[in-house]
Order: sequence, then C-alpha cells, then structure tokens
Amino acid sequence: MKNICVLGAGYVGLVTGACFADLGNRVIILDIDEKKIEMLQRGETPIFEPGLSELILRNVAAERLCFTTSYAEGLQNVEFVFVAVGTPSGVDGEADLQYVRMAAESIAEHMTHPLIVINKSTVPVGTGDWVADIIRKHQKEPIPFWVVSNPEFLREGSAIHDFMNPDRVVLGSLHREAAEKVAELHKPLRTTIQITDLRTAEMIKYASNAFLATRISFINEIATICDRLGADVKEVAIGMGYDKRIGPHFLDAGLGFGGSCFPKDVRALEHMALLHGAHPQLLRAVLDINQHQRRQVVMKLREFLGGLDEKRVGLLGLSFKPNTDDMREAPSVDIARQLLREGAVVQAYDPVAMSVAANILPKVRLVENAYEAAEGADALVLVTEWNEFRHLDLPRIKSLMRGDVIIDGRNIWSPNRMAELGFRYSGIGRRPNDRH
Ligand code: UDX
Ligand code: UDX
Repeated sequence: MKNICVLGAGYVGLVTGACFADLGNRVIILDIDEKKIEMLQRGETPIFEPGLSELILRNVAAERLCFTTSYAEGLQNVEFVFVAVGTPSGVDGEADLQYVRMAAESIAEHMTHPLIVINKSTVPVGTGDWVADIIRKHQKEPIPFWVVSNPEFLREGSAIHDFMNPDRVVLGSLHREAAEKVAELHKPLRTTIQITDLRTAEMIKYASNAFLATRISFINEIATICDRLGADVKEVAIGMGYDKRIGPHFLDAGLGFGGSCFPKDVRALEHMALLHGAHPQLLRAVLDINQHQRRQVVMKLREFLGGLDEKRVGLLGLSFKPNTDDMREAPSVDIARQLLREGAVVQAYDPVAMSVAANILPKVRLVENAYEAAEGADALVLVTEWNEFRHLDLPRIKSLMRGDVIIDGRNIWSPNRMAELGFRYSGIGRRPNDRH
C-alpha cells in the first residue's frame, strides 16, 4: 500500500485516483474547484463514466479514497503526486499550461518531504523539465523531488477498463530510480512497462494520439472517395483490417473525431512542430479532413432539403462519442450551430448529455427521446452511435417525420433497408445497394 495524491478531479484524475485506491493504495484527490469536491464528499460523481460512481463509493467506504481542496492536507504523508489537471488548447493550438504551472507552484509551496511528481496531463515535449524548474524555484527550502512523465491512454466511456487493462505503461524520467518506484505502483496491472527519458515519454503520447487521429482522417478521406466512386467504405475497412499490418481498429468512417484529446493534441503537436521549424503537413491534413466531415453533413442537408431556412432537423446524439456526456469538440456542436445559422430549427436528443448540451447549445430544442427528435422533422441526422439508436422503430420514425431524409453520420444503418423503408438515406461513404 502506498500513499498517493492526485491533482485534478477531472476524467483522468478521478479514474486514476479511484483505480489506484481499488488496487489497495490510500489516495487523496485534490481539486481547486470547491463545488466539485463538495459533490464528491457527498457521494456524488461530477461526471458520467460507466462504473466510476460505484468504484468511488466502494473505495471511500473502505477508507482508501478521500477528497480535498487543500494542498497542505493533500500532500501530507504522500510519496507520489499525480498531476492530472486540464491542459486545454490555447489560442493558436498550443497547449495552455496555466493549470500545470499553478499545480507545480502549489506543490513547491506546500511540500514538506521528498516527493515523486508524476505528470499525467498531456503536455508539450519539454514540460517535465519546466515543471521541475518551477518546483525548484518556488520551494521554500530545498527538498528533493523527482519528475516522471506517465502519459494517460484511457478512453472516455471505457476509462476504468482501460486503466486496469492497459496495452502498456510509459514512464519517462531522468531518474531511473523514481521511474522504477512508479513502475512498482503499476505492477498489479500486469502489463509491459516502458521506461524512457522525459521528453520521449511526452512525445509517445502525442505521437500515439496523432497516429490514431490520422487513421480516422485517412478512412474518412477514403469514404469521401468511395462516395464518388460507388464503393462501400465499411467493407473497404473490413478488407483492410484483415491485413495484420493494418489491423481492424480505428477505421470507422463517420463525422470524425472530437473529445478532449485528439483535436487538441494534434493541434498542439502541429504547433510544436511549426515552432521548431518543421513542416507538419500530414497533421494539417488530418485536422482539415476532420473539419470537412462536419461541414459535409450540412452540405448534404442543404442539398437534400433545397436550403435550410425554416427546415426542421432532428439530431440523434450530442456527446462526442457514445457512453459519455462529454461534448468537448463534439461534431454535434459545429453541426447544430451551422444549421441554426442558416435558419433551421434544431431539435436534439442524447441519452446522457442533455444537461451539458443545455449550456452549450441553448438555442437547440432538447427533447425527451429519439422519436420526439424525429417528430415533424424534415431530416434526421445520426451524430453519435449510442446503442439505443441501433434498434429504433424506423417505420415509426418515418411516420413521425414530415420529410424523409436521414443522414447516418456513423454508418449504423443499412442503406438498403433505409431505402426499402422509403427514406432518402445517406451514410458516410456507403454504397446504396448494400447487401446487409
Ligand atoms: C485530462 C488531462 O489532464 C489532459 O491533459 C488530457 O489531455 C485530457 O485529460 P481531464 O481530466 O479531462 O484532462 O480534465 P478536466 O475534466 O478539465 O479536469 C481537470 C480538473 O483539474 C478540473 O476538475 C479542475 O478543477 C482541476 N484543476 C485545474 C485543479 O485542481 N487545479 C488547477 O490548478 C487547475
Ligand atoms: C482518446 C484515445 O483513444 C486515448 O488513448 C487518449 O488517452 C484520449 O483520447 P477518447 O477521446 O476518449 O480517447 O475516445 P476514442 O474512443 O479514442 O475516440 C475519439 C474520437 O474518435 C471520437 O470522437 C470517436 O467518435 C472518433 N472515432 C474513433 C472515429 O471517428 N472513428 C474510429 O474508428 C474511432
């Protein structure tokens, strides 16, 4: 059992803290947001993540997990401090490090004994050294500390499973001994642990996310070409995926990537490259294609409906992907705003993101279920592939709609069946005479 402090009660911080507690450690999660900490102390979970609430409650009850807003309390008696504060995109795509800076300064001011500071937030290459400098400068007296980079690869919606079953753990440090102590913490996960230097570890995170984003933009570009040539991208992806060198994952064409990581990390990597005189042409293209996926939905609707003014469009799904209420950089936001700008009435339903959506999209009419989103609509757009949308009563949807247009932004329905039902259907890169 080790004593651990986690800074930041966001997605990464809460999952990391709760999972380490579940592995038998004593964990204190610190956040400067008092409301969030009060909620957690009352037994409420501020975000929706499958299984997280139960995991937190179980570990709080076992007295392995608690919460605080106080650095003095948070750092007391701990050996490890995980930094998981947010690193949003700044104005020109660079990562905004103000929260990391605040966290480093606060650690320096409140530390009373040696600490291993482990950075989990995605930060530009070189930040680990910068954090060490800040801590050194702000310490009241010199106390030893070691900085380790430990990039996080968990996905929202399956974050706990991903934390407990990682493909690898990456640790970067100038101090082998500190990295090995952090490796020891991860031993129960029974996975490959790669120990490298700080900058390489930081780069592994960016390169991994940029590569996955590239796969998505690649298949989306193929989908656009399939659209023109009458091929079916779903079958193309299956055929490609059989090749072991390619593999079947992350080849779903659709509305592109959103969320708190891919868009931000690709932009940040591009920015870092430009800043240091490189020409990141591929990264630029990955982002452009991703934007195009959102624009093309509105273009298709405009074409199908002969303009958008006063047209009624239903959106199915608002979160950036299923099983989360997260709407950061969600395609739904760009699509809804553009439709509203062009005079359309937008009505939308999401199984869990409705209260988040109410703040971000105040002009969108939020309705109770998928059928209400279809009611009186000229067109319906499937934005997020929640499971409950896969088995909708489509004849009922058809009878509720005023029009007959369906844009399947995640390719969950069969073009043939949709045509049989009398819809004017468009997927992303789907052949109309699909056999399934
Ligand atoms: C994480 C990572 O930190 C980010 O680098 C990665 O790219 C995506 O995932 P996430 O957990 O999603 O971010 O962030 P968020 O949900 O915004 O939570 C960050 C938390 O840190 C917030 O609760 C915020 O209040 C807290 N915080 C912020 C602090 O406790 N101290 C600060 O100084 C700043
Ligand atoms: C991602 C990384 O997978 C994870 O390793 C990292 O730590 C954080 O960023 P996350 O953003 O939670 O995780 O979700 P992910 O499942 O990777 O999906 C990201 C986006 O890509 C979603 O908008 C999803 O809809 C989209 N996507 C994914 C596709 O459009 N096609 C695919 O084939 C896969």
